[in-house]
Amino acid sequence: MAVAGSAVGLGNFLRFPGLAAQYGSGAFMIAYFTSLLILGIPICWAEWTLGRYAGQRGFRSSPGIFYALIRHPVGKYIGALGAIIPVTIYMYYVYIEAWCLGYAWKSATGGLSNLGGDVAAYVSFWERFVGATEDGLAISPGSNGVILFLFIVFALNFVIIYRGLSRGIEAFCKWGMPALMVLALVILARVLTLGTLDPSKPDQNILNALGYMWNPGDVVHQLRNPQLWLAAAGQVFFSLSVGFGVVITYASYLSQKDDIVLSALTASSANEFCEVALGGMITVPAAFLFMGAAVGGFIGSSFSLGFKVLPMVFARMPFSEFFGTAFFFLLFLAAITSSLSMLQPGIAFLEEGLALNRKQSVALLGLITALGTLFIVYFSKDVKALDTIDFWIGTFMLFVMASVIIVVFGWVVGVDKAWEEAHRGAALRIPGFFKPIMKYVCPLYLLTIFVLWILFKVLGWDLSTGEFKPTGYVTDLIGPEYSVVARLSVGFVLVIITFFLITTAAAGRRWDKNRSDQRVRNETKAEVGQ
Ligand code: ALA
Repeated sequence: MAVAGSAVGLGNFLRFPGLAAQYGSGAFMIAYFTSLLILGIPICWAEWTLGRYAGQRGFRSSPGIFYALIRHPVGKYIGALGAIIPVTIYMYYVYIEAWCLGYAWKSATGGLSNLGGDVAAYVSFWERFVGATEDGLAISPGSNGVILFLFIVFALNFVIIYRGLSRGIEAFCKWGMPALMVLALVILARVLTLGTLDPSKPDQNILNALGYMWNPGDVVHQLRNPQLWLAAAGQVFFSLSVGFGVVITYASYLSQKDDIVLSALTASSANEFCEVALGGMITVPAAFLFMGAAVGGFIGSSFSLGFKVLPMVFARMPFSEFFGTAFFFLLFLAAITSSLSMLQPGIAFLEEGLALNRKQSVALLGLITALGTLFIVYFSKDVKALDTIDFWIGTFMLFVMASVIIVVFGWVVGVDKAWEEAHRGAALRIPGFFKPIMKYVCPLYLLTIFVLWILFKVLGWDLSTGEFKPTGYVTDLIGPEYSVVARLSVGFVLVIITFFLITTAAAGRRWDKNRSDQRVRNETKAEVGQ
């Protein structure tokens, strides 16, 4: 339930529907399911296996886990990614979580339903709420109070994490996950029975809305677009929380008796149900009812669609306050069960690497993440800092980490040994054909996507003309049209990376000492035995 809680998040209800509609849903779903079967689920199995394997050897943090897995000094630094990624994603994710709680409150108190019938009013409300028009707006007196909600959700995350894994995260997920599913089913039933919102626009009905979301267009043509494949694979990782360093940390607490093959599948299935059957049937169809196909123009920034358009859809329904509150509270629950999971790898690392107790590690992580979140909240214009960090850490680094995990599984531990390890305690067996998939197909698939990404997304290769036109990733950071905030954000990410690498070096010295003390003890025992 804790892993499912981590997986089911804003990615399911906001990011996935936005991407699916943007890339022509039917074709996107083909790429999405291919990525899920060939990358997502196998890498999940690998992550669960490696986490438990190292956990049995006494390691609970990603740098420690990779220290145990890759018996080379560089192992722990590679593992540091598994602490850097979740902690950095937390810094902006918690901000979006605050929008959700803020919108739930504003729906409940009628602050959203009285904005009128013009979508521009909702867009400008959202822009003022998150500070999208001006840097510093979100923390200035002219804001719409987002900082108060941020304070509440930030504190709540740390109170729960302080209570520990079982009494905190697991206890919260045990009621939070069923509650969010019930809310999602209620809203889904409401959206599917809406018929049409505006009798003067009969085409904007629920059947056409579902058609907009699900009908395949020109599949053959669309599937030739490499960006669609990149987006699909990226979404699978983000959504399953694969490559975050979260699953590997959670799995390190499991015993040899636990069935990790089944657990990985159960968590992934719960996530896919929430993503495809709930998220995919609520957000875009509801927005379509109101805007028709024009909704495509609103999708751009995937996280924002739900905030800009859906409050207006709810405002048009009977019991608008109830449905608006239920939807945004559901988003908040989905977000908090994920953000909690992003803190645990950082806590585990500070405890294990620096020998801090829970109170100290919670306080230190609270300070680090508060500084990071303030940076993102301050540089709020055009949501630039959030988007830049989301791209470099929430997409690029996830990709790198997922690749590391599958290579360590297939090649460093070795696919045969790792396969045996995965099946310890398992009633369910992974079909044999996944073995070559995990050893060869996954790394090759990832490499191909990476090369395509460099060609198309970074260098801006135009297939039809054969020309290269470097894209935002290059021009924003090094080109003449640079954006100061994008550069600052990358600089900020580098500071976090440096902090974690220095901390990892300190942790490594402790682990090396423990390892050599252990060796001495074993040798002495052997000599005494002789
Ligand atoms: N897996 C989480 C989500 O989908 C991070 O939002």
